[in-house]
Amino acid sequence: MKTPSIPRSLTRFLAGSALLAGVAACMDPAPQIDFPQTDLAAQPLIPKPVSVTASGAAFGLDQYTAIYSPQDDAPRAAVAAFLSDKIQGKTGLRLPVNAQDGEVHRAIYLQAGAQDNPEAYHLRISPDSILITSATANGAMLAAQTLRQLIPEQANDTLAPYPIWPLAGGEITDVPEFGYRGAMLDVARHFFSVEDVKKYLDVMAYYKLNVLHLHLTDDQGWRIEIKSWPRLTEVGGSTEVGGGPGGFYTQEDYKELVRYAAERYITIVPEVDMPGHTNAASVAYPVLNGNGKTPELYTGTRVGFSTWDTRKDTVYQFIDDVVREISAITPGPYFHIGGDESHVTQEDDYVYFINKVEPIVQKYGKQVIGWDEVAHADLDNTTIAQFWADEDNATLAVEKGMKVLLSPARKAYLDMQYDSISEYGLHWAAYIPVDTAYIWNPATYAAGISREHILGIEAPLWSETIAEISELEYLAFPRLLGYAELGWTPESQRSWEEYKLRLAAQTPYFKRMDIRYYPSARVPWEEPDLPEPLRD
Ligand code: ACM
Repeated sequence: MKTPSIPRSLTRFLAGSALLAGVAACMDPAPQIDFPQTDLAAQPLIPKPVSVTASGAAFGLDQYTAIYSPQDDAPRAAVAAFLSDKIQGKTGLRLPVNAQDGEVHRAIYLQAGAQDNPEAYHLRISPDSILITSATANGAMLAAQTLRQLIPEQANDTLAPYPIWPLAGGEITDVPEFGYRGAMLDVARHFFSVEDVKKYLDVMAYYKLNVLHLHLTDDQGWRIEIKSWPRLTEVGGSTEVGGGPGGFYTQEDYKELVRYAAERYITIVPEVDMPGHTNAASVAYPVLNGNGKTPELYTGTRVGFSTWDTRKDTVYQFIDDVVREISAITPGPYFHIGGDESHVTQEDDYVYFINKVEPIVQKYGKQVIGWDEVAHADLDNTTIAQFWADEDNATLAVEKGMKVLLSPARKAYLDMQYDSISEYGLHWAAYIPVDTAYIWNPATYAAGISREHILGIEAPLWSETIAEISELEYLAFPRLLGYAELGWTPESQRSWEEYKLRLAAQTPYFKRMDIRYYPSARVPWEEPDLPEPLRD
């Protein structure tokens, strides 16, 4: 064994925090390597960080790099392990985490900082170390996503007898514009498997989206097991649009999605859409039905024909059971009650219903989210209106002191076609090309909704026209990345002309992840040239 020689940066880190899990590692001085010039400010990061200062120097990521997190800090150790896994997926390198032996030349450190925002982070990339500083492990995870994007696609094989991935040096100071940066998947019209949703979560995390809203119930299907009302899934989950086999998540499946999302600092928001969009539940339990017809399984795509009976106690006992069971396996703060397009519910019945459901959700410790129509009820100001269609509804919510989640269909609906010749999707709200999806400002979109009333933005993907993950991806990508940037990067830093170049550079990631995307001619796509089929 060589004489341990601790790099200066590590010595400083140890002296400053004395927190490392144990650094008896055999530290060798890193060989002097002259890297070609790299520019941190020119890296195609999405979302664009708030502040980037390039040093011109580089950090050599190689087989002698190790990752360290503070002692007794399990959340940061988990982020370190996640980062190590992802670096292995992209490069094949297996970086040890908190290793106490082995030869180490350079290190990546995760340390505690004093940022106010739990998602803020500071990243300093020097020739001999990478220092990630954040108040929380969540901030460290977001920094880790930035770091993943900075790793070059190709190793340099000429600098040393082993491959080195040079990372551009400098400093990044970053914090999100909005705390809620969401996406929604409609798993009711067509069902998508746990594996499909996990893949979506992987990509969301890579681009710093932090909420996945699952639209779990609709006329065509009920997709979440409720143990006290088993026919919901046995009957209500048995088909989907077009008459396919449908499907549903057991509570164990759902818990696994929650766990997988939480590992990536993504919150799951469950939605049970009511009192309309409820045909599947009423087929399973006709006692709920309120539209005066005999409910039958429905595999078409019409909306607005179903309602529960809003004046029946059984309906509220049923809702109590559903909210209780789902809330018990949902650690996040929100429960979405839908409330949209209840066209066959009388207005006074609708208001009565929403007024009854809000306290049920609150009883189980959750904050209510509803589509913008819920603003007509007498709501608590902690309830959130999701603006999708009607600016007057959203403005009414603001007047009631509520916060608004922005998903205007004309800008943010991922199921709108790109143009008249693109595949899949609908166009009742608009055609939304990739640039149109990006060029708008959530903070000024609606006259009556100012910045302080906005919780964040969410991009919903309805699934009437998509049955396969590749079809889902065609609609989501690349537009989802634009919404990720709208949620994170301040307006003053956004420009389509510059963004489209960063977007064009995402193709190696799309290829590694086996993501199908719409190759819009408005983006100067780069042909990915990958050495081997590794996965992020
Ligand atoms: C919706 O698109 N019906 C919320």
